[in-house]
Amino acid sequence: MQKEKSILVIGSINMDFVIKAERVPRTGETLMGSGFSTIPGGKGANQAVAMARLGGKVIFAGCLGNDSLGQKLRRGLEKEKVITDYLTVDKNEHSGVTMIIINKDGDNSIVLDAGANMTFSPEKADPLKEILAEVSIVLSQLEIPIQTVDFIFSEAKKLGITTVLDAGPARALPASLLQRTDIISPNQTELEALVGKQINSLDEAKKEAEKLLKWGIKAVILKLGEKGSYLLTKRDKLYFPALKVKVVDTTAAGDAFMGALCLSLTQGKSFSEAVEFANLCGACAVTRLGAQPSLPTPEEINRLKGKLEK
Ligand code: RIB
Repeated sequence: MQKEKSILVIGSINMDFVIKAERVPRTGETLMGSGFSTIPGGKGANQAVAMARLGGKVIFAGCLGNDSLGQKLRRGLEKEKVITDYLTVDKNEHSGVTMIIINKDGDNSIVLDAGANMTFSPEKADPLKEILAEVSIVLSQLEIPIQTVDFIFSEAKKLGITTVLDAGPARALPASLLQRTDIISPNQTELEALVGKQINSLDEAKKEAEKLLKWGIKAVILKLGEKGSYLLTKRDKLYFPALKVKVVDTTAAGDAFMGALCLSLTQGKSFSEAVEFANLCGACAVTRLGAQPSLPTPEEINRLKGKLEK
């Protein structure tokens, strides 16, 4: 029997310091907030947990600081059965931390001090070459050095492994990385950074997404929040409306989406089936506070699906 292949997630791992407030304070203003909590997060770690919770075999690679936050974050991943053999520690840096404000509508504002995440160099990622042959998809984001993402994607492409890039946080990308990317998923701000242009409507976003295909990218999947999502390949131009749920906190909804998308693709689902499932998973995540605690189980996704079909 063939051994089940793993999904490799290479990316950030942070502790999120979260406060709820009516709105983001103005410069010089102190606002009263509530509900302070420290919650495991980081785009990379969130995406790894999202897949593991849905039953995927996931390896997470990244870098923690040599501190108690790092130990807690590692234990959290292990509890979710994410393989952490390639999760390194930098003894001179603190673990990645964020300050997050959740406003009354459930939208977030995030400040990130990436700390040890930014020390995850291509050299530190080099040992991953020994396991790439057992991997079906490599998924990354942009909260670690871009050279490391480029390095691992280039190694993955040598073996014909599918590379998936969550284009957040927003930044312009080198041509080399775009050429090594099979599937890219930006939100609107991230798409603006990729194409170097302000986007004012859904139609414009769809048109600008076409520009990314010229790099050899096979699928562009736009995450447009309350405007839904959009799948673009050479064959498909499909729009998926947003699902109507009660929004508590949008943090990690995109990560839930990416995790579900990649897992579905490894299970042989088509792009449109994968995006449909990813939409459900993202919608589930916005109904709960925090990053990793909000990532749904298959049962929760089925429950939401049932409710929405009624
Ligand atoms: O995508 C949400 C994540 O972005 C948060 O968990 C935070 O850590 C930042 O990395």
